[in-house]
Amino acid sequence: MKKIKYGSEVDKMPNVAFRIMALIFIIRNFFKPMDRCIDKFGIEKGSVVIDYGCGPGMHINRASGLVGNEGLVYAVDIHELAIKSVKKLITKQKLCNVKTLQTDGNKVEISDNTADLIYALDMFHMVKDYKSFLAELNRIGKCDCTLILEDGHQPRNKSKEKVEKSGCWEIEKEHKKYMICKPGRNVERSEIPPLREWKGGITNNT
Ligand SMILES: C[S@@+](CC[C@H](N)C(=O)[O-])C[C@H]1O[C@@H](n2cnc3c(N)ncnc32)[C@H](O)[C@@H]1O
Repeated sequence: MKKIKYGSEVDKMPNVAFRIMALIFIIRNFFKPMDRCIDKFGIEKGSVVIDYGCGPGMHINRASGLVGNEGLVYAVDIHELAIKSVKKLITKQKLCNVKTLQTDGNKVEISDNTADLIYALDMFHMVKDYKSFLAELNRIGKCDCTLILEDGHQPRNKSKEKVEKSGCWEIEKEHKKYMICKPGRNVERSEIPPLREWKGGITNNT
């Protein structure tokens, strides 16, 4: 039977698709709150966390609470509607420790060695250039950064193959829906393939 491809390798989805997805998330969240799933990632108070592919921001409030006032959450997405949605949340819920950033799909305006933990939930299947993506996550993560990478709508063997081929991350532990990765030990950061030129996409610092 032919498998439905849920936005595989599209990066940026059409606005209407984003709005439908956001609505589905709100309804789903009403019956089964989504944000608690990040509790088991080991997010520490005072840490810098990146929600990569944050979408409408279902996990942002929780992440903000987990890092506390001394910590910082970057909400990164390729879609301007995601950024808009998280900005609304920040204002409504007075989240002083959350910053939004829009990526062009290759690069994001976060300095090298910034994040203690990056989580990328339900989005890896959407990424077109997985090597650049994983290299960029490696660049913005600290040397001992933890990457929580959900398969999204792709089988585990496909996500594993991508991680292994990238050479940037090593899979430390596997869970049913996600993998816990650590920066590749044998990879000098300078060996990471150069990223395509930053296209100067909109940067939304809040
Ligand atoms: C299915 S939503 C998941 C949103 C959120 N992570 C969650 O679990 O609720 C996928 C999100 O990833 C974003 N996305 C897709 N490709 C991306 C990329 N290369 N870089 C950043 N965000 C991306 C999409 O715009 C979308 O908002």
